[in-house]
Formats: sequence, structure tokens, C-alpha cells
Amino acid sequence: MSATSYLGKPTSRVDGRAKVTGAAKYAAEYGAPGLAHGFVVTSAIAKGRIARIDTSEALAVDGVLDVFTHAHRPRMATAEKKYSDDIAPPGAPLRPLYDDRIRFSGQPVALVVAEELEIARYAASLVGVEYEQQAHLTDFEAERGSATIGKADGEAHSHRRGDVKKAFAQAPVRVEAEYRMAVEHHNPMEMFGATAVWEGDGRITIYDKTQGPLNCRNYVASVFAMPRAKVRVLSPYVGGGFGSGLRPQYELPLAVLAARALKRSVQVTLTRQQMFGLGYRAGNIQSLALAADRDGRLASFRHEFIGMTSQFEAFQRNYVTWSSLLYTCLNAELAQKLVKLDQNTPCDMRAPGGAEGLYAIECAMDELSYAANVDPLELRLINYSDRDQIEDQPYSSKELRECYRQGAEKFGWSKRNPQPRSMQEGGELIGWGMATGIWEAMQLEASARAVLSANGSLEIASATADMGPGTYTMMAQLAADMLGVPLDNVTAKLGDSDLPYAPVEGGSFTTASVGSAIHAACRAVQKELLGLAQKAARSPLAGAKLDDVVFADGMIRRKGGSAEVSLTDAMRAGKVDRIEKEASVKPNDKSKYSHYTHSAVFAEVRVDEQIGVIRVARLVSAVAAGRILNPKLAASQILGAVVGGIGMALHEETATDHRFGRFMTHNLADYHVPAHADVHAIDVIFVEEKDDEINPLGVKGVGEIGIVGTAAAIANAIYHATGKRVRDLPITIDKLMRG
Ligand code: MOS
Repeated sequence: MSATSYLGKPTSRVDGRAKVTGAAKYAAEYGAPGLAHGFVVTSAIAKGRIARIDTSEALAVDGVLDVFTHAHRPRMATAEKKYSDDIAPPGAPLRPLYDDRIRFSGQPVALVVAEELEIARYAASLVGVEYEQQAHLTDFEAERGSATIGKADGEAHSHRRGDVKKAFAQAPVRVEAEYRMAVEHHNPMEMFGATAVWEGDGRITIYDKTQGPLNCRNYVASVFAMPRAKVRVLSPYVGGGFGSGLRPQYELPLAVLAARALKRSVQVTLTRQQMFGLGYRAGNIQSLALAADRDGRLASFRHEFIGMTSQFEAFQRNYVTWSSLLYTCLNAELAQKLVKLDQNTPCDMRAPGGAEGLYAIECAMDELSYAANVDPLELRLINYSDRDQIEDQPYSSKELRECYRQGAEKFGWSKRNPQPRSMQEGGELIGWGMATGIWEAMQLEASARAVLSANGSLEIASATADMGPGTYTMMAQLAADMLGVPLDNVTAKLGDSDLPYAPVEGGSFTTASVGSAIHAACRAVQKELLGLAQKAARSPLAGAKLDDVVFADGMIRRKGGSAEVSLTDAMRAGKVDRIEKEASVKPNDKSKYSHYTHSAVFAEVRVDEQIGVIRVARLVSAVAAGRILNPKLAASQILGAVVGGIGMALHEETATDHRFGRFMTHNLADYHVPAHADVHAIDVIFVEEKDDEINPLGVKGVGEIGIVGTAAAIANAIYHATGKRVRDLPITIDKLMRG
């Protein structure tokens, strides 16, 4: 191994120092000369109209520059489609401060801009809004009857094969149950904020909290009818996103609106409370009916998902087809429905669709294991599917069996007493549960640029973001490895709409997409370097093809030989001091193979019934995600996602006060996320998975796979510990005692 071989090594974050020293700045930490500050006034009602807004008192406050409302704002696009974005679901996107209509509680109705944030905040409290209120619908449970088949993202996601009714009626083992999941909010550490820098020459530069600088750049250009070249959006560091930063949030247009009106730089930040007015993970009700023969072989699988969306956009993801990718079953009926509520539109939140669907699917499989008297892991193996029954095609790779095997071994699953309430220690009930995880291994169109200088420095650039997974590191590591230069020589650039095209950072597709583009760009640099090296008289690399050489330790070296030319000499021979290459890759969705990542999750819970405490004492997540470029950062991704899964299982819940149609747990005291004391031993295993079909790097992507199945494994462990099946997430102690 050469000193410049970085792939597969547990490299630390290249941006780690910047982050711990505070040098890495979030969107609202940027300043600008004469920066003004905006504070948003949000709607107190869920549905109706603004009858009157009185801004006179706010305007009278010393230091207030202006108060913008639908009745007083600069020109913005009229057509709703101009407010759409790359991630927008079908429907009519919100037009912030556009008109007097109120569509949800927490909708922005005014923006107060002042010399200082606290002045703006105080003046915002003086804005008087009178509403014409209409009756709102926010009670999902009460409205479930109005659910209709959603064709939201262009697909119905419904699927039918065989005869479910007949197979179910005839099968000897049956399970029917309804599962629920509460609304969840992302709660990233960094608050939403935008610093719009007024450049004075018709250009505007915006630091925004976003997972997609290009998506936001295009949105601003569209909403304000500006040429794209005059808008630049930067998000060099993102303090967490979990999906909340995929679509442009309203701080962005509001900051730009004010900057354009005042011809001055403006910063708009949201409070934690206001962030509960943004998108959320949709609460849901899932009905499952499974039937099997006496050996546990599935005979029929029915899954109906009812989700919630807003009145103006139809948000949904694929929730129900996952079972057809995991388990062989001749008869299946899978459907999704949506209920429209007077709430903001939900948005993607970690493994959207998979995390919800697999929770119910994997709990139902657990219930079936008891009904059939088959070990839960054995039940999965009996029904293991080697073929995608939705697309009717094979997988490019699927090492899920190995995940089950290695996960079970590490966990000690074979020592499990199948009987609920049978395992106890020190007054605590012990429960062991397991579940399967699956997530798409997507690759989207992406571009990257590589610039190699004669001094050996390498710059790699793409307009992606890094909301925490380690994208800077992935980019630098990959380029350093491919060109055989030290990691310290590489600068990765991202989070800038002026850089080569990249999709939003999400869906666990960044490494497969941007990484593949970097691979292609670096191949182009390699090719040019080899050509230059061969230009020198009596070149030791004469006649060599790209596949005959390796790039390592600053050298181009003939494979299996000692002939070599340094990169510096090659560039000197070619009389160039700079090689710049840009390359793009296409999506991989036209393949005749299905691409998925998989996991097996094993959880141990300990339940103290006396004092009412549930704790996830131990959890093993065994993941198959193709080639792992950096085991340290990849494991970190899974750890974070597992913590999200613990939150989903035990803590996270946004409650609504239906009298006001308002999310009321809008702070981190009432909205619980796992704290350190809630997180115990978590083991991450990456099983080896070779995939030559998926992309030249063989990578599938990690991150979201860590949350899928985790809540189910914990819920199943709680049943095993207590003998009580709680089907509503989060499983709080009151439900356990009631159950
Ligand atoms: Mo992820 S929910 O695509 O940020």
C-alpha cells in the first residue's frame, strides 16, 4: 500500500479542525457591512385570511427599517410554479408574504427588519394581525376517513399481485394490526438562517442553511425574476439537516426580499419555535395483514399506508413496496393514501418512506413470528427474496444474509429465550428484538471539477453540500487516492452554487453521485498526465495505457514494475502548470438491476417496570452498502442514524393542539430527542459487498440505512421484554403501562 492510498481507510474529517475551533461558520454567522436583521411574524391561526395588519407601532420603534407584509413588499413572481424547486412535491408551493391567505399555523405573515436583531424581535411583537378565521382540519385521526389515493410524486406506489383475499382466508397463520407513528420534526442543531449580501451591482450573495445551494439559487432567481448568474448561494457548512434543508425554506426568500427592497444586506434567522412551522415527518397509520403457512412461509401480504399532507401540496414517498424487496410472497396488495390537513407540507426526513414503512412491516413480521412460532430471524431467512418483485428483476448485489449472520453473531441472538418476559436481570426485564433495514442506493446526475497544479496541489469542486456526513473528506480522499497525492495537498470545495452541478445532498446518494463524478474527473486528469509523461524523450512509460499504470506517492508508476514518472516531471515535460478537468455522471435508475442497501438490526432493551424506564442497552446494526470508502465516517453515519431510530422508537413526537391547529411541542424541552443518557452501546458492522454494476466505485451510500428498521427492532425488543405490544410510536412508558 502506498502512502497516498486512502480508500477504505478510517480517515478523520478534513474539516474537523475548522468545526471544533469554530472557524467553520453557519449561514447566520456571516456578516456584511451595514447588515440589517429580520425577524418573522408567523400566523396564529391555521386557516383563513389576514383581515388587517397594523405595522404602525412596529415601524415607530427606533431602529426599525421596514416591516414587510403581503400588502407591502417588492415584486415577486405571481405564478405558484415559480416557487417550485427540485424537491417540491406536486401542488402549489407556498408563496411567502404573497397574499392574505393563511394555510397553516406558523406561516410567515410579516418580516420586521431593523438595525439589530433584538430590535426586530421586539418590534415583531408589536405587529397587530387581525384574522378572518375559518374552521381548520388538523386532527389526522378524525380525518382518516377522507384519505384518498395520493399520486403525489407522479407514482401511486400501489402494487398488487396474486389474490390476497383468498390467500389470507386460506392461510393457517394470520396477523392483522394497525401501527402508528407520530409527527416528527428534524431539529438540526443549526437554526435556519439566511444572510443575503447586497453586492450593489445587481448581484446578490446568500449564505443559507441548505442541503442544496443550486436548488436555492434557482429558486431565488425564479421567485425574483433575476438572472441565475446574478444570484450566488453558499452553504459551506451545514449544522445538520436530516432533510429539512432539501427545499428552500422561507428565511431565504424573506432575506432576499428585504435586501432587494432596502438595497442593503439582510439576515433572517428563525427561532427553534418557528422551525416547527417548516416541514416535518408526516404522522401515519399503517394497516398490515400478513398470512403464512405453518412453517412461516408468507402466503399473503397486505399493507395500507395513510399519511398526511397539506392542502396545497401532496407529499408522499414510497412507504409500502419494501416488503416485496425483502420477502418472497405470491400475493400482495400494497397501497398508500393521503389525508389533507391545514398544516404545512411535510418534507423528507431521514430515509423518508423507508423509515416509516419498515417500522410497520418489521413489527408485523415480528408478530407473525410469534403467531407461527418461528424465530424472528429464521422467519426472515425462510422468506428471503433474491428478486425484486416490484420491478421483477435481480439486485446488483444483496448481502443481506451476511448482515443477518454477522449481526446475529455479534449480538448473541442464538442465546435468546423466545418466550416474552423470560429474560430478567437486576429487577429489569430484558428484551431482544430484531428487524431488517433497506434503502435505495440511488445515483443522480452530478458533475465535479479537478484542478491539479504543478506544485502538486489539487482542488476538487462540486456544488454539493456537507450537512455532516463528511462530504469534504470523501471528496478529498477519493481525489488524493486517484491521483496519488497526499491528502494534505487536496482542497475540497462545495456548498457554492457557482461550482459544477450537483443535486441536493440527500437520499444517501452523494457519494455515489458526486463521488462518481470525481472519479470521472480524476480519470480525465490521469489520462492527460500519462500523455504528458509519455511526451518526454525515452519516457519510461512509453506505450503504457491508463490501465497499465498506478498513481501513487506523487508518481505515475507502471504496474508490477519500477518504471515511473513524477506528476511534476510529467507536467514539466508537457510544459503545463495546470490541468483542469470537469466530468459528469448520469443517474443509474435505468439499470436492469435493482439497487438497494440493506441492514439487519438487533436491539436489547431493558425495562424497569417499577420506575417506568425503557432503555436501549445494546444495539447492533450490520450494514451492506457496497464499498465503504471511509469506515470511520461511514460508521459515524450509522451511529447518528441509529440515535435517530432510538428517538423515533422512544422519544420523538410533535403534538398538535387541535383547538388552534398548532404544533405545540415546539421546543427541545417538550420535543424529546435522545440525550447522551439515552444512548448506550451501538455496534456498527459493514459486511463486505462487491458491486461492479452499480458504479465504477462500487459504492451505494450510507446514512439513511442506519435509521431504517431501528425503531422496529426496539419495538420488537420491548414486546419480547414485557409481553406488551405497543404499536404507536413513540413507545413512551405510559403506553406501556396502559397496554
Ligand atoms: Mo435526506 S431526508 O434526503 O436529507
